Amino acid sequence: MRKKIVAGNWKMNLSIAEGVQLVKNIINEMPSLQGHQEVVFCTPFTHLSSVANELNQNVNIQVKLGAQNCNDHASGAYTGEISSSMLQEIGVSHVIIGHSERRQLFHESNAFLKSKVDTLVASKMQILFCCGEPLEIREANGQNEYVANQLQESLFHLSAQDFLNQITIAYEPIWAIGTGVTASTAQAQEMHAFIRNLISQQYSESVASEISILYGGSCNAQNASELFANEDVDGGLIGGAALKAETFLPIIKALH
Ligand code: 13P
Repeated sequence: MRKKIVAGNWKMNLSIAEGVQLVKNIINEMPSLQGHQEVVFCTPFTHLSSVANELNQNVNIQVKLGAQNCNDHASGAYTGEISSSMLQEIGVSHVIIGHSERRQLFHESNAFLKSKVDTLVASKMQILFCCGEPLEIREANGQNEYVANQLQESLFHLSAQDFLNQITIAYEPIWAIGTGVTASTAQAQEMHAFIRNLISQQYSESVASEISILYGGSCNAQNASELFANEDVDGGLIGGAALKAETFLPIIKALH
C-alpha cells in the first residue's frame, strides 16, 4: 500500500536539547498513525543519537529517524563525511538525497547523487529523493523536462524492486522553499501526476501506484490539508514548519 508520509527536515537548526524536546512534544500530542502512515524526523548528524534514544523510548514504530545527507563511499579517507553504515548503527532508516540546497550550495550533480543512491540502496536504507526546478525554469515552462532529467540521471537505473522498496520522491520546487510561496494545489498535483506517469513508463503502473510522492516548499499548518487532498500528493517534506510542535502537528494531522 502506498504510504502517506510527513517528514520534517530540520536543516541546520535547533540545539540537541531543543530537538529532543521537540520530538518529545510531537510524539506526546500526535494522533495515532494508521498502518500506512509515517512520520520522519530528519535531524542534523549531531542530533541523531539523542533523537534515536528518545524514539526508542516510544513504541510507535511508524516514527522514523532520518539524516539529511550521506557519503557515497563505504569508508575511507573522506574527512568530514558520514557513511551509511555509521547512520544505520545509530538507528537511522531514512536519508534525504538531492535536496536543492545540496545541489545548489554544494554542487551535487545528478551523477554524484546517483552514486549516493546506489550506496544507500546497497545498505537497504530508505531514500527521500528530492527533485524540483528553479524559478527561471518554471517561468520558461521547462519544469517537466527538468524534473524528468533529474529522475532519469539519478534514479531510473535502479531495478523495479529496488525502486519500489527504497525510494520516496519529494517534489520541492526551489522557488517555493523557504519563500512563503507555495505551489498551488493544481501545480503540485500536476507535477506529482507527471512524476507518477514517468515512473509508470519506466517501470510499471503497479510500481508507480505504490510510490509515495511528497510535496515540499512552504508547506504549513494552513495549506497542508489542501495539498495532501490531491490524488498524487502523499504527504510532505517540511522545513520551517517542522521546527515547532504547534506548526508540525497540524501537518501530521492533515495526513488523516
Ligand atoms: P520550507 O518548508 O521551509 O519551505 O522548506 C522545504 C524544504 O526544503 C524541506 O526539505
